Amino acid sequence: MQSVPIIAIDGPSGSGKGVITQMLATELGFHILDSGALYRLIGLAARKRGVDFDDETALATLARELDVQFIPTGDQQNPLRILLEGEDVSAEIRTDAAGVDASRVAPLGRVRAAIGELQRSFAVAPGLVADGRDMGTVVFTDAVVKIYLTASAQARAERRYNQLKDKDIGVSLHALFKSIQDRDERDMNREIAPLKPAEDAFVIDSTAMGIDEVFQTVRAIVQKALGEEKE
Ligand code: C5P
Repeated sequence: MQSVPIIAIDGPSGSGKGVITQMLATELGFHILDSGALYRLIGLAARKRGVDFDDETALATLARELDVQFIPTGDQQNPLRILLEGEDVSAEIRTDAAGVDASRVAPLGRVRAAIGELQRSFAVAPGLVADGRDMGTVVFTDAVVKIYLTASAQARAERRYNQLKDKDIGVSLHALFKSIQDRDERDMNREIAPLKPAEDAFVIDSTAMGIDEVFQTVRAIVQKALGEEKE
C-alpha cells in the first residue's frame, strides 16, 4: 500500500476535471496538483522571456528553474493565486491562448522530465487529487484510483465558452471548438505521454451528465477504493 493516497484524474480539455478535482479535494481535505497549470506557466514564461517554442533545451531549462508559487485563497471559485516570478498570473494562464501554448511545450520530453519531480512533490499527507493528462499513465502510476473523464468536443467547447466568456474578451464558441479539436489532436497523438485512459482507469463520459451527477459517480468510486485500501 502506498503511504499517501493519490487520486489521478485525467481527460481532455473542458471535460470537467478541474471542477471535479476541486470538489473531491475539498470533500476529502486532500491537496491538489493542477498539472496543466504547470505547462501553462512554462508556455507563459517562454512568451515573457521570448524563448523560441522550438528550442527544447531552453524550454527544459526554463521548466527546471520555474519560479512559481501556489497560494491558497480559501475561495472555492478561484482557490489558488498563482505567482510566476512573483507576478500574479492567475487570470493570464487561464486564457485559451495560454492553453494552446501549454500544449505546444507539453510534447517535449525534456520539458516533461524537468517537472516530474516537482509534480511528485505534491504527494503529501493526507492525500492528493492530481488533475492532468498523464497523471494515471505516467506520473502517478500507483494512484489508488484513476479516473478518465471525457465528453464530446461540442459539449466541452460549450462548457469552456461559458467559463471564459466573461473573462476572455473576444472568445467565440466556434473558435473554442476548433481550438479544443486541435488540442485533442496534439495531446492524444504525441509520442511522449499521450492522452489516453490508463488500463486500470474508470472512464466516465459526461456529455449528457450534469456536474453533480459526475461528482456523485466519481465520489462513489473513490470512497469504495479508499475504504478497500484501509482494510
Ligand atoms: O488541463 P489544461 O487545459 O490546463 O492543460 C493545458 C495543456 O497542458 C494540455 O492541453 C496539455 O497539452 C498539457 N498537459 C499535459 N500533461 C498534463 C497536463 C496538461 O501535457 N498532465
